[in-house]
Amino acid sequence: MQGLRGAEPVILGISGSENAGGNTDLALEYAGDLVRRRGGVFRTVHLRDHRISPCSPCGDCNSRTSPCALPDDMPTIIEEMKRADGIIYAVPVHGFGLAHLMQIFIERAGVGYLRFDRPLANKVGGIIVTGRRYSDASVHNQLVDNLLLNRMILVGSGFPALLRNTSREPGLNDPEGLDALERMAHRMMDMALLLRNVQATANGPVLPLDDRNERVARVRSAS
Ligand SMILES: Cc1cc2nc3c(=O)[nH]c(=O)nc-3n(C[C@H](O)[C@H](O)[C@H](O)COP(=O)(O)O)c2cc1C
Repeated sequence: MQGLRGAEPVILGISGSENAGGNTDLALEYAGDLVRRRGGVFRTVHLRDHRISPCSPCGDCNSRTSPCALPDDMPTIIEEMKRADGIIYAVPVHGFGLAHLMQIFIERAGVGYLRFDRPLANKVGGIIVTGRRYSDASVHNQLVDNLLLNRMILVGSGFPALLRNTSREPGLNDPEGLDALERMAHRMMDMALLLRNVQATANGPVLPLDDRNERVARVRSAS
């Protein structure tokens, strides 16, 4: 893990909600409380508080050999992600898909920065989706694909953390969703601690880091 060995695991929650104090923030805070109770450090990035441009028409992402040059807050957030042991994406469903702040972030982060050397490899990943009930599972699946693309470790913990709220008021009104969220946060902490311990004894990366970029042909030694 890239965090400091011996120190508490750092879990970073990234919220893609525009709504301060809304369902997504509440769910992320709930996860954060649990991480802290387990002895971890929990940090939050609210995408709404940052300058993040949508992908522009420059169109050279696939051929660029250096990170995206759009001047905004993306590099700072990417650095914060690199420092974490685990990352939780938390997002509301909008129009049957990812709410736009998270969609823009995922596009910019992936194509603009992460694809070069997959710096999130071996970090523990988690997903929280809030919604009324329509297409929350598709949004979850999209984020699963994204975590796996980035070689992150998705720890099975039971049902996905889909939190439903049909009230007009923000609230954690879904006991089954909350149970799933708790299980996910616990398992993320279990895995983050395990990886730290193994790394401390192995004195190096826990898992091989050679497969970093699917766009570059990889030659494995036959031996
Ligand atoms: C523009 C908009 C579109 C939405 N589309 C959906 C949807 O397709 N499916 C769904 O289940 N909920 C949908 N919702 C409800 C939100 O996903 C849900 O209330 C969510 O928990 C809000 O999170 P927040 O309080 O963090 O903004 C939509 C809400 C808004 C504002």
